[in-house]
Amino acid sequence: MARIVVVGSINMDLVTTVGRRPEPGETVNGEGFALVPGGKGSNQAIAARKAGAEVEFAGAVGDDVFAAALRGVLRDAGVGVSRLRTVDGPSGIAAIVVDGGGENTVIVVGGANSRMTGLEPADLAALAAADVLMCQLEIPVPTVLEAARHARANGTVVMLNPSPVRDLPPELWDQVDVAVVNEGEAAQLDSVLAGVPHVITTLGAAGAAYRGPGGSSLSHPGVRVDVVDTTGAGDTFTGALAAHWHEGPVTALAWACTAGALATTKLGASAAIPSRAEIEKALAEQS
Ligand code: RIB
Repeated sequence: MARIVVVGSINMDLVTTVGRRPEPGETVNGEGFALVPGGKGSNQAIAARKAGAEVEFAGAVGDDVFAAALRGVLRDAGVGVSRLRTVDGPSGIAAIVVDGGGENTVIVVGGANSRMTGLEPADLAALAAADVLMCQLEIPVPTVLEAARHARANGTVVMLNPSPVRDLPPELWDQVDVAVVNEGEAAQLDSVLAGVPHVITTLGAAGAAYRGPGGSSLSHPGVRVDVVDTTGAGDTFTGALAAHWHEGPVTALAWACTAGALATTKLGASAAIPSRAEIEKALAEQS
């Protein structure tokens, strides 16, 4: 069983469903509203846990009305929360609109995630003992760099999902063993990704592509599902990939593509993450 530490974000997602999103200045009637725990870090941690890994989450919630539910969703999934801090002020939130076609728009307000500045000795010890570190870019970049540097120095695989995409210090890219990007991020980060040993590009309904050391490559086809909401599908993909990375890219990509596809069949990021049994059933149906 892979031991994974996620250093990342946790948000409460405020999800509105609407048949057609409004034009600027227009008001439309929505169809539904739900509060669903999310955040790229938390989603990836839960997905990795459900796909079979032992997972510890290092992050921050606020001291507001959302904090208990955010902590609870990790704990209920079996993710370790001993490295989850509570800080003054609001938790992170994401205002998400899902339209009738299953497409989403997301506005993230960092809140407590922005205060995840610096790692504590116990965070560093957990990183050194882990097989894989998973990071995203919804917490301050210096913290991501500190985690990656420490993981790399201790032989822990550094997996970065550089989302939301932005320019990063070259020293951070030097620490990365595995990058997981979507097609837009791949185009934007083209030159820096060339120096990363393993790059996985998600291709939506078309599956995913892998490029390894020495230019080796492979791909996994898309898994056909009825799409309800794509929010968090990339996070579920990344979590399942990390959980099975030690089994090699063929197996890891199969788990990731299958878990990511299943995650689009329900509304809400963390609420849609499939169980290990559901992923295994869908994998068996493909063979
Ligand atoms: O990747 C999906 C996630 O992005 C949502 O859960 C939202 O919180 C934002 O962080």
